[in-house]
Amino acid sequence: MSELNNLALKILEKGKGILAADESNGTMTKRLESVKVSSTPENRLLFRETLFSATSMTECIGGVILYDETIKQETLKKNKIPELILKMGSFPGIKVDTGAKILAGSPEEKITEGLDGLRERLKEYFKLGAKFTKWRGVYNISKSYPSKLSMQSNAHALARYSALVQECNMVPIVEPEVLMDGDHSANECYKKTSEVIKKCFEELILNKVDLKGIILKPNMILAGNKSKDKISNEEVAKLTLQCLKNSVPSEVPGIAFLSGGQSEIEATENLNLINKYNNTNFIMSFSYGRALQQSALKIWSKDTGNIEGTQKVFNHRAKMNTLAAQGRWSRDLEI
Ligand code: 13P
Repeated sequence: MSELNNLALKILEKGKGILAADESNGTMTKRLESVKVSSTPENRLLFRETLFSATSMTECIGGVILYDETIKQETLKKNKIPELILKMGSFPGIKVDTGAKILAGSPEEKITEGLDGLRERLKEYFKLGAKFTKWRGVYNISKSYPSKLSMQSNAHALARYSALVQECNMVPIVEPEVLMDGDHSANECYKKTSEVIKKCFEELILNKVDLKGIILKPNMILAGNKSKDKISNEEVAKLTLQCLKNSVPSEVPGIAFLSGGQSEIEATENLNLINKYNNTNFIMSFSYGRALQQSALKIWSKDTGNIEGTQKVFNHRAKMNTLAAQGRWSRDLEI
């Protein structure tokens, strides 16, 4: 077994998933201000450190995606953040793209940037303790989108990023996110997501990326958030499985979904059903940002010194999602 394959499997072993705590300072500021906490480096660190030292890190969280600021921060007790994460039994990872910018030639769409100087940045992150990385391509759905240009250029960037990351002995998380914004149907999401993912693998293969040493981070197949034709959770699970079965090469060891604006319970319930019906060899787990942190952030914002209360809420969500990643969650376990 290759080293990278081994690492990808370890991150997602036994129902473990990934905590996406890699919000850029801009996004984190929005999250903190929404609960009336000022977005200082100290507050950003305090919230994150509270989560990273929670007991569920050992049993439920196989990896944490960090932002550039956080990977370089130290706790009050002078522990480096990657060391704290490793000590808790999880692996530190890092977001390495520099954000989605307007795509020249199709200005309503986005292209993710960050390839220039990436090889040097990766070496630095590796030295700081990162074992895996993340790059997010983002696509919106409408009649004419995502365009061929956006699919081609984002897939190209994701593949060049992945090749550089593996060269540096880390596992790339490949995240093509088809957004849920809009009034499109679930079938439309299915069609566009399949196209996007197939294009990504075409480019990954062209760039000689070892597919056994990546983790795919896709969206689930959902109707748009403004669509009138909502579908059941069972249908979400079945369409998601069908889509991935048809578009992901079998060498890929693991798939870790993003939550993408689903509520905490919805994200857990859908993951649980995906695992109940999973007739593939892929591990199906989570790499949630909002769906792991929302309730914890709310509690913490009321009293930023309430470490125990915040960790209790976070531990519960982490545990629920670990059960869902094994198809063992049920609604009556929610409090
Ligand atoms: P959400 O689960 O909040 O969508 O965040 C996951 C992520 O990493 C987005 O890039």
